[in-house]
Amino acid sequence: MASPTIKLNSGYDMPQVGFGLWKVNNDTCADQIYHAIKAGYRLFDGACDYGNEVEAGKGIARAITDGLVTRSELFIVSKLWNTFHEGPRVGPICQKQLSDWGIDYFDLYIVHFPVALKYVDPETRYPPGWSGESGQIEFSNAPIQETWTAMEKLVDGGLARSIGVSNFSAQLLMDVLRYARIRPATLQIEHHPYLVQGRLVEYAQREGLVVTAYSSFGPLSFLELDVKQAVAAGPLFEHPVVKSLAAKYAKTPAQVLLRWATQRGLAVIPKSNDPTRLRQNLEVTGWDLEQGEIGEIAALDCGLRFNDPIGYGMYVPIF
Ligand SMILES: NC(=O)c1ccc[n+]([C@@H]2O[C@H](COP(=O)([O-])OP(=O)(O)OC[C@H]3O[C@@H](n4cnc5c(N)ncnc54)[C@H](OP(=O)(O)O)[C@@H]3O)[C@@H](O)[C@H]2O)c1
Repeated sequence: MASPTIKLNSGYDMPQVGFGLWKVNNDTCADQIYHAIKAGYRLFDGACDYGNEVEAGKGIARAITDGLVTRSELFIVSKLWNTFHEGPRVGPICQKQLSDWGIDYFDLYIVHFPVALKYVDPETRYPPGWSGESGQIEFSNAPIQETWTAMEKLVDGGLARSIGVSNFSAQLLMDVLRYARIRPATLQIEHHPYLVQGRLVEYAQREGLVVTAYSSFGPLSFLELDVKQAVAAGPLFEHPVVKSLAAKYAKTPAQVLLRWATQRGLAVIPKSNDPTRLRQNLEVTGWDLEQGEIGEIAALDCGLRFNDPIGYGMYVPIF
């Protein structure tokens, strides 16, 4: 099954359902991408920080060589890491990431976090992660405007077709929109029933950005990282509201959560290592929840955020 696409403000079509590459192991990544393409996935959401772009590129190359797909049918997303926010660093690191993937343009390249950290030479440490040489967080002074202007040059130079942001607040987005020559095409944020962020989603959508939800299953992705709030939250799949809707529509709880997002116009990028779940996650368009049911799920909102640098022990209080 193929995913429907959403038109971006850059004019390009983006698949509404994609495959996220965070925590996809290096030894299985190429095979997983290959099988995901076979199952119908066309969008892959990668990042420097995930440390698996070389392997992801191998999976893509094999699928193209075997005639499963062409490059132009794929939508490859990557992200600018925090240590490369200074204007002159943006072009070279994007080039390096393209060469890791073995491709010559990204369909979408995103500022991963609104946090500028001190530059780390990729020859020294890659991916650089959050901590500097000292083992502590070391900030850089690069303002977002400097980073965004360099991102726009990636589009001018053909390295990225569309550019976007992630983990930005409405305030910061307002600021970017004041000076952007090329507007962000997408905003990628943590989004699930425990963290709905209704105002931010509405503002971004009104401004013509497509919102992409990450960690759509709430606490589930963070259990393996031992994030305290995730352990305390309990499984979202077992919540009576989600369970009863899954029973009503003969879908899995995961599909209900993904449909809740896609029906409201968001894109989703679930990750699964399991072939059956991988296929299920693609079948999250083309059937509808009732409006009242969408509201019932949204009413579970309790502002519970799992992907927070503070929760990983880093004093970066952005949320
Ligand atoms: N911009 C950012 O800062 C940011 C942050 C986090 C994530 N992301 C992106 O968003 C993507 C998705 O987020 P995520 O990885 O946090 O989590 P996710 O996709 O919400 O959840 C992944 C977890 O759900 C399980 N799962 C997947 N499909 C399932 C299904 N149908 N039924 C039951 N369990 C299922 C997976 O286990 P199995 O593998 O065993 O199925 C895994 O434990 C990431 O891969 C990454 O690309 C971006």
